[in-house]
Formats: sequence, structure tokens, C-alpha cells
Amino acid sequence: MSLRVVKGDITKLKVDAIVNAANNTLLGGGGVDGAIHRAAGAELLEECRTLGGCETGEAKLTKGYRLPAKYVIHTVGPVWHGGNNGEAELLRRAYRNSLEIAREKGLKSIAFPAISTGVYGYPKDAAAEIAVKTALDFLKDYEMDIILVAFSDGDNLRYQKQIEESYGN
Ligand code: AR6
Repeated sequence: MSLRVVKGDITKLKVDAIVNAANNTLLGGGGVDGAIHRAAGAELLEECRTLGGCETGEAKLTKGYRLPAKYVIHTVGPVWHGGNNGEAELLRRAYRNSLEIAREKGLKSIAFPAISTGVYGYPKDAAAEIAVKTALDFLKDYEMDIILVAFSDGDNLRYQKQIEESYGN
């Protein structure tokens, strides 16, 4: 089993699937969603138009087109509304359902951005804890290379610390 942190741009990673932190329309946006659509090219949006959107906490698969990654798994994390609106469970489900799609498709490697921690305002430490715990929980039962992509030094440190703490427990 393997969980590791890579610092950088998720659109550059040559993995079986990268995960997109999308919105309910799946029709593109800013942040990592915008970067993924720009790098994949217009065909990605064409395929996304056929999917009929995505509920928060769910995930849907497309091809990767011009990306080095073979597939994109589009998921929708929760918008942070203070923490008493099911945000933690929805974020956990966004990670878990993305991993389940990768497993069903027989994929061996998957890379995640820090879902919901940009435009959607989820507190970064709490989100890192959910990302690491959900990944380690999945790896108890299945083999996969799971990469958590840190876009900043702060995210990198946050993930490293969280992984150390989780292995310690
Ligand atoms: N590679 C890796 N991580 C990135 C990249 C990149 N190229 N670009 C940004 N990040 P956000 P959300 C990090 O806002 O909070 C979109 O408009 C970024 O630093 O992209 O889930 C969608 O359409 C942050 O840590 O996603 C939705 O409307 C993380 O990715 C909405 O934003 C997530 O930030 C989703 O908001």
C-alpha cells in the first residue's frame, strides 16, 4: 500500500487518474478545475456535457485527453458553511467515491488535489486530516498508489504532518 505527497501541479502527473475538484455542473470553473480543463483540451468539456452534472460527494469518470493522466475522476466537495452542515462527511465521501471509481476501473494510481480547500473555503488542516484518513482507510482493503498533491509549501507540510500522526496512531 502506498500513500505519498507530491508537491506541484496535478495536471503534470502521469498517473492512471487525477481527481478534479469540480462543481455540480461539471462544466468547468476556476482553480484546479480550470487548470485541468485547459491542460486536457476542449474534448474534456464535451464529454463532461454528457454526464448530467454531479451531486456533492459523488464522483464521475472521463478520459484524460491531452493530460498525461489516462483518466479524470471529477468529484464535488462541499462548500464550507461553518462545519455543522455535513461538510466533513461530504468531503470524506468525495475522496472515498473517487477511490471506489478507480478501483472499479482497475486503476493502480490516483492523484488528488486538496478538494474544497480553495474557492469552497474548507479549513485546510481539517481537510488534510480527512484526505489522509480516508486514503489510509481505503488502503486497508485495496492496493493502490494514492498521491496527495500539495500546491503550496503549506499544504505539503500539512499533509506530511498528518501522515506522520496517522501512522503513529
Ligand atoms: N494542481 C494541484 N492543486 C491545485 C492546482 C493545480 N494545478 N490549482 C489549484 N490547486 P479549488 P475547491 C489547489 O479552488 O475549493 C472551481 O471553480 C488549490 O491550491 O480549485 O474544491 C470549481 O469549478 C487548493 O488547495 O477547488 C468549483 O466551482 C485546491 O487545489 C470550485 O472551484 C482546491 O482549490 C471548487 O472549489
